[in-house]
Amino acid sequence: MPTSTTRIRKAVFPVAGFGTRFLPATKAQPKEMLPVVDKPLIQYAVEEAYAAGIRDMIFVTGRNKRAIEDHYDTAYELESQLEAAQKTALLEIARSVVPDDMTCSYVRQPRMLGLGHAVLCAEHLVGDEPFAVLLADDLMVGPAGGEGILTQMVRAHERLGGSILAVQEVPLEHVKRYGIVAGDGVEDGLTRVRRMVEKPSPEAAPSRLGVAGRYILSPSVFSQIRNQPKGAGGEIQLTDGIAALLDKESVYAYAYQGTRYDCGSKEGFLQATVELALQHAEVGEEFRRYLKSLTL
Ligand code: G1P
Repeated sequence: MPTSTTRIRKAVFPVAGFGTRFLPATKAQPKEMLPVVDKPLIQYAVEEAYAAGIRDMIFVTGRNKRAIEDHYDTAYELESQLEAAQKTALLEIARSVVPDDMTCSYVRQPRMLGLGHAVLCAEHLVGDEPFAVLLADDLMVGPAGGEGILTQMVRAHERLGGSILAVQEVPLEHVKRYGIVAGDGVEDGLTRVRRMVEKPSPEAAPSRLGVAGRYILSPSVFSQIRNQPKGAGGEIQLTDGIAALLDKESVYAYAYQGTRYDCGSKEGFLQATVELALQHAEVGEEFRRYLKSLTL
C-alpha cells in the first residue's frame, strides 16, 4: 500500500554550497547562477519543479548567495527601462523568471554541515508533507518532446507513494561520487530500495545505481536526519537519512528517462553548454555550423 499519496507542492533547493570546483568564477557569485547558454543553473531546476506542478520554491541559501534572491525578485530598474523602451520580448523574458503563481522562500544554512543538514534547515517551511529536493548542479533534461525528470517522478509518486529517488547506472569507477542504492526490482525501471550508501568505494558498492540530484521525500526523513551521526566526509548526509527510512517506509529508485549533466564538474558543464546551445532556438543552427567548421 502507498504510504502517502499527498500531492507534491513544495520543492527544496539546497544552494548554500561554495562551488569551489568553479573557482575563480564562483569567488563572488553563486555557482547556481552560472549560465548554461542564457539561463542560470538554478532556473533550469526551478522550471523543472514548476513544470511538475510545484509552486512553493524553498531555497536553502548561505552567505554570498544574494544573486539568487535577486534573480527571483522584481528587477525594478531593468523592467521599467525595458518597458519605457517598449522592448516587450525582453521584458517578458525578465518577468517570466517568476510566474505570478509561484512563491519563493529563503532560509539560511548557517554552517556547511552537509546536504542532509541543508534539507533539515527547510523543515519548518516544508511541514508534514512529502516534498521534492532538486540539486541545481545536476541539470536534468527530459527526452525530446517528453516530460521533465521531476514530472516523471511526481507521476510515480502519485502511483506508489513513499519516497522516490532518481537513479542512473554509473560506471564502477564513479560510484564514489554518488549515493548508491540496491534493492528488488518492482517493474521495468523501478526498484524498491533495500540498501543505500553514500559515496562507497567500488569494492563496497552494493550496485552501480547512482542517485541523481532529484528526490521526492517523505517528511519522516527530517527526524531521521536530526538524529543521525555524521557520515561520509564528516558531513550530515541526506543519503543516511533516507537509508534510515528503508525499514519503515517504501523508498523507490526510479530510472528516469532523459539526460543528466553533472554541472558540478567542468566537463559536465561544458557538455550541457554545447548540447543545449545546439538545441537553442536562437543560436542553435549557427552554433552547429560553427562546430562543424572546427578542425578537432
Ligand atoms: C550529492 C549526494 C549524492 C548524490 C549526488 C547527485 O552529492 O550526496 O548522494 O548522488 O549529490 O549529484 P554531491 O554531488 O553533492 O557530492
